[in-house]
Amino acid sequence: MKIFKLFLGMLIAGLLVSCSQQDSSSGGEELSEIKIGVAGPHTGAYATFGEQLWKGATQAIEDINAAGGINGAKLVAVKGDDACEPKQAVNVANRLIEQDEVTAVIGHFCSSSTIPASEIYYDADVLMITPASTNPTVTDRGLDTVMRVCGRDDQQGIVAGNYIANDLAAQRVVVIHDKDTYGQGLADATLAQLNARGTNVVLYEGLTRGEKDFNALVTKIRSLSPDVVYFGGLHSEAGPLLRQLRDQGVDAWFVSGDGIVSEDFVKATGGPEFLTKTLMTFGADPRNEESNPAGAKLVERFRDSGFEPEGYTLYAYMAIQVLVAALEANEGETSGSVLTDWVKANGADTVMGRKDFDDKGDLTVSDYVMYRWTTDGDYNQL
Ligand code: ALA
Repeated sequence: MKIFKLFLGMLIAGLLVSCSQQDSSSGGEELSEIKIGVAGPHTGAYATFGEQLWKGATQAIEDINAAGGINGAKLVAVKGDDACEPKQAVNVANRLIEQDEVTAVIGHFCSSSTIPASEIYYDADVLMITPASTNPTVTDRGLDTVMRVCGRDDQQGIVAGNYIANDLAAQRVVVIHDKDTYGQGLADATLAQLNARGTNVVLYEGLTRGEKDFNALVTKIRSLSPDVVYFGGLHSEAGPLLRQLRDQGVDAWFVSGDGIVSEDFVKATGGPEFLTKTLMTFGADPRNEESNPAGAKLVERFRDSGFEPEGYTLYAYMAIQVLVAALEANEGETSGSVLTDWVKANGADTVMGRKDFDDKGDLTVSDYVMYRWTTDGDYNQL
C-alpha cells in the first residue's frame, strides 16, 4: 500500500510539473507579445481619422520593437474598427477584451464611441488612452482606467468663443452642430463662451450626420445675415455645409474645431477655393519644429514615407509612448488602474514633449490655438 501511495504521489507530482511547464511555456509566449488595441473609425466616412490613429500608433510600436520592445516583449497592434458608431464601438471593445485579450487600448476617436467603449475597458481593468476624444464626459466620470492625451472641449470652446468675440468682433453668430456627443458638446461650449462675452447668437440648430444636402438650413442661415457661422462636428458634414453656404452667397466666417483637421475636409468642400474665411481650433501643431523640436525627426520620417502626419497622428504615437512608459516602470503589471495611477503620478516624455496629467486623466496644460485654412488647402496657426 505504501509503495502504491508513493507511486501515486510521484505520478501526481510528475503531472503537476508537466502542467506547470505547459503553463509557463504558454505564459512565456504571452509575455513575449503584448497586444495593444488601436480603435477608431478605420472604415466609413471618418476613416481619415482612423488612419491618423493607426499610422501614429503603429509607427510608435514599430520604433519601440526595433529598440528591443518592453523587457524583451514585442508590442503587437490589433485593429478595432468602430466606424464612429457607438454600438459598433461597444462590440469592438468586447472583442478586444475577450477575444484578442489586449493589454491596453489606444482609442477611440469619436467621443460618442469612446464613452460607451471605455465602460467595457473599465469593467475589465484595461487602460484606455484616447488620442483624440475631447468631450468632457470622457474623463469626468471618474473611471480610473481612462486617460487622454488631447485637450477638452470646455477648453477648446472657450478659445473659439473668445476668438469670435474678440478677433472677429462678431455681431451676429449662427451656431450649428451635428447632434452628436462631440459636435453638440463643442457647439455648446462655444455658445456658452459667446453668451459669457455678450455676443449676439441669432441661431442655434442641429443638422443630421450623414446627410449632404443642407440647402434648406443654409437658406435659413442666409436670411439671418450672420457674420460668423460656427459648426460643431466632423469634416464630412462641415465640407458640404461650407460649400453650400458659399454657393448661396453667404460670405460669413466659417469656424469649426478639431473635427475638421484632415485634408479630407478640403475634398468634402469640393476644393480648396471654397476655404476662404475658414478657421478652426486645434492644439498647437506638433509638426511645427520650433514649438515641438521633439517631433521633428518623426515628422520627417513620416513625410519621407509619403504620409503627412497631420491631425491626431502624433497624438496616437504619444499615446503609445505614455503606455509604454507605464508598462516599463511597472514590469509585468497590466492592471489598467495601476498603470493609470502611475501615469498620473509620473507623466511621460513624448514626441510632443513632456506631458503631465491631472487626477482625472486629462493633460495639465491645454494648448488650443486658432488656425486659418488657405485656398491652397493648407492651414496655418494664427
Ligand atoms: N475630438 C473629436 C471627438 O471627441 C474627434 O469626437
